[in-house]
Amino acid sequence: MLKINMISKTFDRGSVNEKKALHQVSLSLDEGEFVTVIGGNGAGKSTLLNCISGVHPVDEGSIILDGTDITFSPEYKRSRLIGRVFQNPLLGTAFDMTIAENLAIAWARGKPHGLSPGITRPDKALFREQLALLGLDLEERINQKVKLLSGGQRQALTLLMATMGRPKLLLLDEHTASLDPAIAKKVLHLTRKFVSEEKLTTIMITHNMKAALEYGSRTIMMHEGQIILDLSGEERAEMTVERLVKYFESRSGVQLENDRLLLS
Ligand SMILES: Nc1ncnc2c1ncn2[C@@H]1O[C@H](COP(=O)(O)OP(=O)(O)OP(=O)(O)O)[C@@H](O)[C@H]1O
Ligand SMILES: [Mg+2]
Repeated sequence: MLKINMISKTFDRGSVNEKKALHQVSLSLDEGEFVTVIGGNGAGKSTLLNCISGVHPVDEGSIILDGTDITFSPEYKRSRLIGRVFQNPLLGTAFDMTIAENLAIAWARGKPHGLSPGITRPDKALFREQLALLGLDLEERINQKVKLLSGGQRQALTLLMATMGRPKLLLLDEHTASLDPAIAKKVLHLTRKFVSEEKLTTIMITHNMKAALEYGSRTIMMHEGQIILDLSGEERAEMTVERLVKYFESRSGVQLENDRLLLS
């Protein structure tokens, strides 16, 4: 489904700030595969997702999604194929529009005719049905503006918007990191539910090693712009947070005591 072949990305090349964020990264995902990504600050995790979604052009290598070479296609075109949720709940929704209007935009995405002029009654019924899945009573607030929602409610809505058009690929960049633990858990559970029900091919960055092993079926670890561990199957099933931390520390030379990678 997704084939990333030897991509590299260097920021500010030739300046004193030159930073090699990705170094010849290759990664293949089967259809429906749910991969979690861990790694320390600056490891290149967000850059990887940003290169896949077209925020940054890559310096070299190629990205093939569902048989189509998207290496050079612009971000707006990729967004029809790729759903995204970021860490910041302020991104991903139009805060001055209603819940229904936001859902209408998400619903129209990827459809051949683009945005339709209005929201019809059946649309609203569908949106209510979808919102009810979140279990946050948002179906009662469909005509309220998104800016009235809490961070967790917004992330849940953004997740729904990112998945409702059945994207070819779902990219989650620490999408629960800024939420209170209880609502973070809820959004993670919703993530698992939507991903498994729709069989979405998914990459989820998390700073929580426990969640990384608990969710999905494969875990990769990044360090200094490279993938240094790729766990699946039995090897992953037998992995513990303690061993994962030890592995990270030995490969990176970084001690993780009090590091956010350990926080749950
Ligand atoms: N737009 C940018 N311009 C310049 N440098 C950047 C840019 N984006 C990322 N970098 C640099 O690239 C490196 C990788 O950053 P990236 O954001 O991918 O790390 P990360 O693994 O997501 O870290 P974190 O866990 O802190 O989110 C870092 O050194 C960062 O400073
Ligand atoms: Mg990041």
